[in-house]
Amino acid sequence: MSNRTAASFFLCSALLLCAPAVWAKPGPQGPQPSGRWSYDPVGSAPLPPMGWNSWNAFGVDITEAKVLGSANVIRATGLQEAGYVNINIDDGWWRKRRSPDGRMQIRTNLFPGAATGGPQETSFRPFTDHLHGMGFKAGIYTDIGRNACSQAWSPGNPNLPEGTQAEREVGLHDHVAQDLALYFGEWNFDTIKIDSCGLAHYPADKPTVRNGTYRAFGPIMADAVPNRTDIPAVKTLYGEARDALRRIRPKGDYILSLCNWGAANVRSWGADYGTTWRTSNDIDATWGRMLHNFDSVATRELYAGPGHWNDPDMLEVGNGEFDAAHLTEARAHMSLWAIASAPLIIGTDLTRAPQGIIDILGNREVIAVNQDRAGHQGVLAYGDSEREIMVKTLSETGAKAVVLFNRTAAPTDITLTAQHLKMRGDAPIALRDLWAGADRDPLLGQRVFHLGPHEAIMLKAVGPSGLAKGRYISEMPGRVHVAADGIAVLEPDPIIHRPADPYHPGTTSTGNRPAYAGWGGPRADATPYDQTLSIAGATFRSGLGTLAGARLEVKADGQFQRFSARVGVDDSTRGRRAGVRFEVYGDGRLLAASPVMRFGAPAVELSAPTGSARVIELIARQIGPDIGNVVVTWGDARVE
Ligand code: GLA
Repeated sequence: MSNRTAASFFLCSALLLCAPAVWAKPGPQGPQPSGRWSYDPVGSAPLPPMGWNSWNAFGVDITEAKVLGSANVIRATGLQEAGYVNINIDDGWWRKRRSPDGRMQIRTNLFPGAATGGPQETSFRPFTDHLHGMGFKAGIYTDIGRNACSQAWSPGNPNLPEGTQAEREVGLHDHVAQDLALYFGEWNFDTIKIDSCGLAHYPADKPTVRNGTYRAFGPIMADAVPNRTDIPAVKTLYGEARDALRRIRPKGDYILSLCNWGAANVRSWGADYGTTWRTSNDIDATWGRMLHNFDSVATRELYAGPGHWNDPDMLEVGNGEFDAAHLTEARAHMSLWAIASAPLIIGTDLTRAPQGIIDILGNREVIAVNQDRAGHQGVLAYGDSEREIMVKTLSETGAKAVVLFNRTAAPTDITLTAQHLKMRGDAPIALRDLWAGADRDPLLGQRVFHLGPHEAIMLKAVGPSGLAKGRYISEMPGRVHVAADGIAVLEPDPIIHRPADPYHPGTTSTGNRPAYAGWGGPRADATPYDQTLSIAGATFRSGLGTLAGARLEVKADGQFQRFSARVGVDDSTRGRRAGVRFEVYGDGRLLAASPVMRFGAPAVELSAPTGSARVIELIARQIGPDIGNVVVTWGDARVE
């Protein structure tokens, strides 16, 4: 035996001897089961928050009278009873950070009720007392950096903070404990939105930084460029604010709304740092921008659930292309936010809103879909660039909400099938049209719906489940916690609609490019890259798609007896070399494991009793290296 042959012989026998031993039990590499539901809520929002915010209506031209004007309308029109209980002020309220004690001062020309003891002694307590007296909750706005968005983007506005450079530093940075104690302790606010312009928009070469108006900061976050973002630093700063709030409000009676526009890969950590987190840049009152913001949540169904919500930004219902002359568009926008379990935060001046707009915002049956207590986000059952069908499981037995959506300016047809609803095709499915407020003929098998330009039809469907026993896990995304997404290299999500870029008007820039990282995160009824689930040519309309390396926790609460799935490497996998072992745990105990699966091998059935497990964990463990992400499918993943 030559030296070379001897070496390879030795290597081969080592592999043969070692490999089965490693493969026979969960490997030390990759995710380990936590044995528990490890999601720990930040604040309290078992349902998507509802309310009103000043920004989309007034920008920084905000006044106490304007805020209370809309609050009064919310009360008088029944919108408050319908659930809109948070009244939130946005940017523009502050005068300065007082020297030398750093106490924040309110702009009393805009908020006269805050002048409790002359211009140097200002307090929002009368304002929050007033709102609380009306039965509302009150929300305030700040920035996680030293300076705010208005200071970066509205130079020259008379309502910007004033004074010395230090006095203009109105953001939380270096004042987290002091400011939050003031806002939540003394002033008694219930909600805070924490923006992040301070981390992104104060580079040393900015004219207002160069001239000394503001201090340079980082930048440590680049909106669309994770590689130029210090993600751990962003998380540390938001973590300080979260921890301070937890100390001030140990009962958790607050909402913390993170506003970093889908940057810094917030998708993967938002739920651990806030109650809601923005998934995209700012909405505006145009159809294209609304589509953009909707798309930024539409494929993140596994990331939201009771206590933690994807936030595609506040409603534009009542404004611009969603005003009283565009009620079809306004209904579509509202339908999409409702089925996506998005926060419903009104962003229009309600004192001028016509009844048609109030009626859309106040549609109780539509709101009930958004506020359903199971907290499942809608899942895409059909999608192309023009038409979508989204289905959201409701808590009532056999009930689902459905939105049929025409994204285009031309009429179209959408065929809804029982299969989209995961219901039986041979039994009648009761249908109710939520915008018409009327029952429709039951659906048997399938039906064609005609949609006008930009129309959304919103239905409630009640019928027998397509599964003889149990439920697909993809019907219950609110029970899934993405504990690890398996993403090794961050990539932007390319399937989000890219309208004209409002920040670079015209076409002089290079365009509006894919911006939000996290492409490759786990999905319900699709692969992480939005393809049909498929193992060795067999496709699955139901199931979970993840990357190898992902770990999902499923909240079982002892309610299920058995977990089953047909597992394998997905046909769309980037990496085709590595093996994958599928492991199912109940409360940390290994219940079942597949053989090592490889690309091209047919799916195998994995099934195990789950007993009284409170948490079922699904781990796809990569065995061996690969040059690309390994895409795996838990086909028909279901519980009985
Ligand atoms: C950012 C936020 C908006 C709003 C403005 C205020 O752009 O994303 O929602 O709060 O700042 O300046």
